[in-house]
Amino acid sequence: MHSLEDGHIKKFNFSEIPKHILVHGQKVGVLAFGIAEILNYSHSKKLDVAVAGLYHDYGKIWVKPSILNKPGPLNEEEMKVMKLHVLYSSQIVSSFINLRKYGEIIKYHHEYMDGSGYYGLKGIEIPELSKILTVADVYDALISDRIYRRAFSTEKALEIMEKEKHRYDKRILESLFKMVEKTCICCSFNGRELRKAH
Ligand SMILES: [Fe+2]
Repeated sequence: MHSLEDGHIKKFNFSEIPKHILVHGQKVGVLAFGIAEILNYSHSKKLDVAVAGLYHDYGKIWVKPSILNKPGPLNEEEMKVMKLHVLYSSQIVSSFINLRKYGEIIKYHHEYMDGSGYYGLKGIEIPELSKILTVADVYDALISDRIYRRAFSTEKALEIMEKEKHRYDKRILESLFKMVEKTCICCSFNGRELRKAH
């Protein structure tokens, strides 16, 4: 894969995106839209964060499946490769004129308020909409099955995030809590429920 910094990008085809990345993107997009709505964002900002949510993990198509699907903790080298997915996703959207504006939001979707994320950005250094993606992304990951664990219940997921609240923007985390309370978003998103339904 050539990065945009080299002036090239590997040929990208939307049909290559596996279903689990598409579904996760759709869920994160919906969650991010809901959080932005509770925060009273403008309609265009709500759409921006929802669209960024759709594409935020597309770069994972260029991370080796052996790393992406490893059923245990990643070693230092593997983690370095995994971290590149934010850059790849950002490069994918930036290669389309209509999607270019989502590149920066997506690039920073693994940043935490305490500086413990991929690029080590802290607090106000992190773009506002990226902070929403982070919260939506973590929540969806927790309520979804993973290779190494089953999905957590909504209550447990919120409890885990509450314990790590220093990592998230306070208002955004509170908005997630309000949204989940209001919409019971877990019911339609839970992997096991979806499998039962189809
Ligand atoms: Fe990600």
